[in-house]
Amino acid sequence: MSKIIVLMGAPGAGKGTQARLLQERLGLQQISTGDMFRAMKAAHTPLGEEMRAIMSAGKLVPDDLTIRMVHERTNREDCKRGYILDGFPRTITQAAMLEKLAVEQSKKIVAIVVDAPLDILEKRMTGRRNCPVCNEIYNVYFKPPKVDNVCDFHPNAHLLQRADDNPDTARERLITYEEKTRPLLDYYEKSGRLHRVDGTRDPEAIYADIERIVNGE
Ligand code: AP5
Ligand code: MG
Repeated sequence: MSKIIVLMGAPGAGKGTQARLLQERLGLQQISTGDMFRAMKAAHTPLGEEMRAIMSAGKLVPDDLTIRMVHERTNREDCKRGYILDGFPRTITQAAMLEKLAVEQSKKIVAIVVDAPLDILEKRMTGRRNCPVCNEIYNVYFKPPKVDNVCDFHPNAHLLQRADDNPDTARERLITYEEKTRPLLDYYEKSGRLHRVDGTRDPEAIYADIERIVNGE
């Protein structure tokens, strides 16, 4: 049975970093709801402006919109062999929807949480930079590009800082996570589907654990 890999963890824990490695090495599609909402936000439509307000406050986008978007996206051809959810589900309602979706798509849910303490998370968020072309994730403290502020793969692309990576919004995102999303860990733990990995190590060590879990399931 093909799998839905649910990558969980606080903001800055390393979900995107690990999802990109899984996509590259196991050929499973990364579905990042955060990236999808950022693309919507860039469109400057009324819906885009709504996203901008929610995201800059560190709050969650409403469940109904998020759920419809994930449903539509994961029913495409490139998700047939399984896929990685990076940043979904984030509420109990979203998790309930995912149960139905997994049945509908004949897939098995494997939940993995990347655990990292608060002091690390703050530095990971405020130090993060992204390539606007390929979305590669860098960090001024932990993973600097070869040339300052320039993507290793796109010499003409200057790295950008996410609008929600300022200290105030980052704090709000952490609060939202504790309130709305952390309870989901219990939800997956109780049904015996939660795997924990120590997210304080370097990305390759974390990846090795995750790949072992994915292949073992
Ligand atoms: P989203 O984009 O998902 O943001 P997030 O959950 O806050 O997570 P991040 O992307 O900040 O962190 P990450 O875990 O991916 O870390 P990364 O790998 O980049 O969501 C943004 C917003 O969209 C939400 O606030 C919400 O408004 C909305 N949204 C999204 N999904 C939603 C949903 N389902 N429902 C409702 N609303 C939703 O790594 C962070 C940094 O650390 C990088 O610089 C990286 O280089 C570095 N790093 C990573 N791993 C390591 C390591 N092992 N060692 C050292 N440095 C590392
Ligand atoms: Mg991310």
